[in-house]
This record gives sequence, C-alpha cells and structure tokens, in this order.
Amino acid sequence: MAWKASMLAMLGLVAALLSYPTALSMAEASLISMPTEDVHRGHAPVVFLAESLTPDYYADSCPDVRGLVRSAVGEALQKDIALAAGLIRLFYHDCFPQGCDASILLAGAESELQMWPNRFLQRAAVQLIEDIRIKVHHACGPVVSCADIMALATHDAVLKSGGQSYLVPLGRLDSLEPAPLSTVSELPLPTFNISQLIEAFESRSLDVTDLVALSGAHTIGGAHCTSYADCFAGEANSN
Ligand code: HEM
Repeated sequence: MAWKASMLAMLGLVAALLSYPTALSMAEASLISMPTEDVHRGHAPVVFLAESLTPDYYADSCPDVRGLVRSAVGEALQKDIALAAGLIRLFYHDCFPQGCDASILLAGAESELQMWPNRFLQRAAVQLIEDIRIKVHHACGPVVSCADIMALATHDAVLKSGGQSYLVPLGRLDSLEPAPLSTVSELPLPTFNISQLIEAFESRSLDVTDLVALSGAHTIGGAHCTSYADCFAGEANSN
C-alpha cells in the first residue's frame, strides 16, 4: 500500500525529534521502524528509507530545490514562527491517512481540509506550501512534487525551531485525489488512551518509539481549549 512505504518519509522526523545525530543510512530499504536497541545503546539511529526515494532525485531537473524551499521557509518563519508547528502538523496529517502524497492540499468539494480531523490545521501553513510551490515551479518548471516540497519544508521547520537536521530523500508522487473521510478519520483522537494510540500507529507500521518520538512534536505549537476540555473534570472544565 502506498502509505506503508510513504510513512517512511516521517521516520526522518522521528530521528530529528529524538535529537540524535543524523547519520541516516540508505544501505537497506525494507525495514519500517527505527531500531530501538540502537537508540538505547546511544548510537545514531539508522533509518531505512523507501527504495524509490533518493536524496538527489532532482539533481538534474531542479538542483537548488532544497535551497529554494529553505529560503522561503526561513523568510516566512522570520515573520511568524508559529508557522513551524503548522507545517509539521500539516505534514503529519497528510502522511498518516494514506501516505505522504500531498493529498491534503487538494481543493474541491471532497477536500481533506474540510474534514473534521483537519479543522484546526493552520491555513497559513497550507498557503505557505502553495507559495513555495509557485516559486519552485517558476524556477524549475512543474517537476517537483508538492509532497516533496512539504517534506523539505517540514525539515526546515524542525530545524528553525531548534530540532536536528535529518536526511530528506526525494521522489514522492502527488496524489490526484483526496483521501476519503473514512481514512482521514483514522488519525488518532486526543481522547485516545495509550493502547489506542499504539494500535493506531501500528496500523501504519509505526512502533512505540515512533509514537513517542513523533509525539515530541507537541513541544511546540498551540491548541484550542475545545481539543482538551474533556481532560479536565468539574470546575476546571468550565474555565
Ligand atoms: C499521537 C497522536 C496525536 C494526537 C492525538 C494529536 C492531537 C493533537 C491535537 C488535539 C492538537 C491541537 C489541535 C488544536 O486544538 O488546535 C495537536 C496539535 C499539534 N500536533 Fe498533534 N497529535 C498527535 C500526533 C502528532 C504528530 C505525530 C505530530 C507531528 C509529528 C503532531 C504535531 C502537532 C503539532 C506541531 C501541533 C501544534 C499545531 C499548531 O500549533 O498549529 N501531532 N495535536
């Protein structure tokens, strides 16, 4: 399934959020999860990547794509650092349902952005990806996928907000259709207990280490009171 290979794209983010050095290996390409025992031994995690992705995918067609994205993200975050959290969450909400395919950006009646799990995603982050796409396509033509632009922008957002750098291999393809509501609704809810969270992540071939590391993304960003009102009982709930 497309999402299974494509969720590997998020594992670089796992490595960054674990704040480990970023010696990522592409030697083998079949393993889904980061080997937990290496983390425990204090070694740099080895993250195996989807076979079809490669760091120099645009070497001929758009050699400066990384620089173009980096400068656009840098400029935008200089004006509004809160966008960093918006970009990171947008990438997660794109990747989890059916893989990192930029389907979340598609407009129209069935758009994922109109679905309830995505109601609080920062629209300014969506607009920033569109602005970057225009710049990149102006420089290189429409050869770079939006999914790759999102992956690069997420990396730059992690870096700008104090996280580690990590390798971002490229070559993702964009979806031509949004994910259906039934799939988008598989994003874990804030009311989930730990067993439900583990189960949800396992359904995407992500293990407990991935869950803990990726949840570290909540170190930055904001939330609406309504998202967490259920966590407080009695009087606290009324404030
Ligand atoms: C484990 C299951 C997860 C649950 C239940 C969850 C739930 C939530 C909720 C309820 C919010 C607040 C939304 C609002 O009220 O505005 C939020 C915000 C956020 N989430 Fe998650 N999340 C999960 C996993 C992740 C992952 C894996 C990432 C990225 C790697 C992530 C990144 C973020 C970020 C950056 C924000 C802040 C967004 C902003 O400031 O605009 N979350 N999450």
